[in-house]
Amino acid sequence: MSQPPPEAHALVLAQRNFDALSEEERLHWSGQFPKAKPAPTLPYPERVIIELANTCNLDCPMCRIGANGVNLTRVMPLEAFRELATQLFPHVRQVRLNGLGESTLIPEFGAYLDVLARHPVQVELITNATGSVPIYTRMVDEGATLLFSWDAAQPTLFERLRRPAHWDVLSRTVQAVAEHAGRARRERQLFLLFTLQGANRAELPELVEQAARWGIPHLLVNVVKQRSDAWIQPCLKELLAVFAEAESRARRTGVRLFLPDTLAGHRVPLGSASPTAGSGCDRPWKEVVIRWDLDVQVCNMFNPYTYGNLALRPFERIWRGAFAQLFRENINSAHCHPYCRGCYYLKDVHVRRE
Ligand SMILES: C[S@@+](CC[C@H](N)C(=O)[O-])C[C@H]1O[C@@H](n2cnc3c(N)ncnc32)[C@H](O)[C@@H]1O
Ligand code: SF4
Ligand code: SF4
Repeated sequence: MSQPPPEAHALVLAQRNFDALSEEERLHWSGQFPKAKPAPTLPYPERVIIELANTCNLDCPMCRIGANGVNLTRVMPLEAFRELATQLFPHVRQVRLNGLGESTLIPEFGAYLDVLARHPVQVELITNATGSVPIYTRMVDEGATLLFSWDAAQPTLFERLRRPAHWDVLSRTVQAVAEHAGRARRERQLFLLFTLQGANRAELPELVEQAARWGIPHLLVNVVKQRSDAWIQPCLKELLAVFAEAESRARRTGVRLFLPDTLAGHRVPLGSASPTAGSGCDRPWKEVVIRWDLDVQVCNMFNPYTYGNLALRPFERIWRGAFAQLFRENINSAHCHPYCRGCYYLKDVHVRRE
């Protein structure tokens, strides 16, 4: 991970961040940049999202992080994670392990959990369920919230969307973890996380039943991020009916369902709908992402805009610095970053409810 000096890195960052914008937005953002003032008193974020691994053992079609197979050189070194913990964890409430990759792939993942256990932070893990049962049950026992990504109720479709996973193997893992959590009266720490896409749009009601059968009390619905939402419009009515059916089954089975409140700009008129970040976002003030290579980025939706890199500057300077402030100045305006438009992040879902 060789890095240029901080001043040269600022130029690289400016280029990387502004090149992702349209011509008009580039002029606007780069014109504002010299005036962006650091915010020396901005409080630390409540939540830090850490990408331990930028590599994956699955190759899901909507993600493709695993397209080239597992590469364990794209992992945050344990020593870097320890330093990060010392610098940041005393100031934050939650640490979510998530990223463009699968954290549980790391052979010494348990040692990262040891570091987390030394700090009074709430831990969350988003995982594809290919980790081992003992790792997951250890996390449950230590109070972590686990979100298992689960994109279909039918095994054949699941295996197509989560290739080359085997339904039987992963469902045994999830059931074993859920049974353990149930025995320990910790089932409220478990979620299924469903990424809605064209291929699985009819699956949600049955997945509610599946969650109930497994004893998983929460089901969170995320919407696939693609270049365009054009697939939604032709099946909007069908999707709203699927959501309504899922909500009715959730009510009957006692599963808590979290749906987005909009689909391609149309309101979802259901009680389980939660506000999404596309209609106003506070994430850049409340959370931050640290990528495996110590790049500091914006939010859990993996907006690629980058504030800086921790190998070059301490966290507070990056978090309160000009690149971060520029992003905040624009986010809830007509000049917001293009990645933020129509964002489906469920902003009021606080996964942990005591
Ligand atoms: C990138 S994965 C990383 C964690 C782990 N590998 C997993 O799949 O749970 C985090 C979440 O992002 C979702 N995801 C993947 N590709 C996506 C996309 N194009 N749009 C929205 N969500 C996506 C996954 O389904 C998963 O729930
Ligand atoms: S398991 Fe997660 S990181 Fe891996 S390809 Fe699928 S969505 Fe992406
Ligand atoms: S991508 Fe979504 S969650 Fe992230 S900053 Fe933009 S609107 Fe907020």
